[in-house]
Amino acid sequence: MSEEMLINLVYVASAVMFIFGLKLLGSPDTARRGNFISAVGMLCAVIVTLIDQNIVEYQYIVGGIVAGGLIGALVARMVAMTSMPEMVALFNGFGGLASLLVGWAALAVAMLNASDAAPVPVFMLVTVFLSILIGGLTFTGSLLAYGKLSERISGKPFVYTGQRVVNSLILLAVIVCAGLFVVDPSNQNWLYLAVGLALLLGVSFVLPIGGADMPVVISLLNSFSGIAAASAGFAISNILLIVAGSLVGASGIILTNIMCKAMNRSLSNVLFSGFGAVTKSDGPVIEQGEVKPLTPEDAYYILEAAASVVIIPGYGMAVAQAQHIVKELQEMLEDNGCEVVYAIHPVAGRMPGHMNVLLAEADVPYDQLLEMDQINPRLETFDVAVVIGANDVVNPAAREVESSPIYGMPVINADKARTVFVLKRSMASGFAGIDNPLFFKENTRMIFGDAKETLNNLVKAFD
Ligand code: TAP
Repeated sequence: MSEEMLINLVYVASAVMFIFGLKLLGSPDTARRGNFISAVGMLCAVIVTLIDQNIVEYQYIVGGIVAGGLIGALVARMVAMTSMPEMVALFNGFGGLASLLVGWAALAVAMLNASDAAPVPVFMLVTVFLSILIGGLTFTGSLLAYGKLSERISGKPFVYTGQRVVNSLILLAVIVCAGLFVVDPSNQNWLYLAVGLALLLGVSFVLPIGGADMPVVISLLNSFSGIAAASAGFAISNILLIVAGSLVGASGIILTNIMCKAMNRSLSNVLFSGFGAVTKSDGPVIEQGEVKPLTPEDAYYILEAAASVVIIPGYGMAVAQAQHIVKELQEMLEDNGCEVVYAIHPVAGRMPGHMNVLLAEADVPYDQLLEMDQINPRLETFDVAVVIGANDVVNPAAREVESSPIYGMPVINADKARTVFVLKRSMASGFAGIDNPLFFKENTRMIFGDAKETLNNLVKAFD
């Protein structure tokens, strides 16, 4: 078998591992294996690519791998689960920057080797431009998204009149620069201008997005980083980079679509409408009834008599790190003969699958986690809904208040259960910054306090 054939065979095997790994990521119980298989695929691909390129000096590569590996391991250990979306934003950004640099370097090499008789092929120029454009806007867009999510800068959408026109003009200018550079590659100024404009476009693209729409834009930028990598793969004729980039690009778009559907928004509405520009003061006035607080001790008597309980976790459960104590409460209720299930909203928490990850950490069986569409038709049959640090995802205003910014967003209909316990520290609003009529419903009882502490008290009462 020739060396080239062997290399291609390893590439095919790596591509199969990526696809198989992605498939396994679709379910919480196989996700770890999927991650591992994909990582092995990437390792094989990197080793084979290094052999294929007949590299004579490895010290920089080894140095890069060690430094990158150390930073990755350190960051993965240090970053809190609640800050994962910020980290993903940074990863996307650096992925985009890497594609930009790979494309640019490939172009520099090609131009060195080009002559009048054999100029740089137009196909290569176009793919390099795509990797620079998409990589550049992904880089700055992701940095801005990171800043907004980590609240280093205001997370509010920044909207001004004529914004879409300005963005369209910047995009047009990049395309014009690309065209001029392809026609005359010896004039590098068009290239530099295009890089600068691509970086600017990333900022102007993310500026008007904010609030609850940030996860969607992170997922979209993730998709962009994949497309940029695939373009860089074309530029350097690396099949595996094309395959890996396309997989990231396609899965990012699918996830974006799923999230848009979960919020009942179209992608263009997310990108251009500036959700969250509606502040509490100019939002709809929600009719406020009486708030009925309850102590954990009194809540115990109701739970003790309940035959069925649905637990609805949200971001507050992550903040309180209450997943283990929730599992304890679940077991105590079950020992008491009660049916317990969990209702998981697709955008509960701050990242896709946030609740699933936390509950998996506490060894909650996967078959007890029900998705919104599975639980909603059954909700009125439950004796108690225990809402743990969830707010927006159980907000009935999405069904009842037409003027609400979240009107039409599918929510878990917690208010349909016979009794609703809401565990949170105050009457504060959730991520979307809007009032929640659930707290004032006739069948709702507010149990104020840190979720972990409240659950601890409930568990103690059962003991
Ligand atoms: P939120 O609407 O953000 O509400 C979380 C609630 O948890 C807050 O109202 C807060 O109230 C309470 N809380 C915070 N710390 C707590 C603690 N220690 N103990 C008890 N309660 C605590 O959460 P949600 O219902 O999960 O909705 C998620 C929101 O985030 C949606 O708007 C979604 O669009 C957005 N978002 C989602 C994602 C993804 S992909 N999941 C990413 C980014 C943003 P108190 O302060 O009164 O305690």
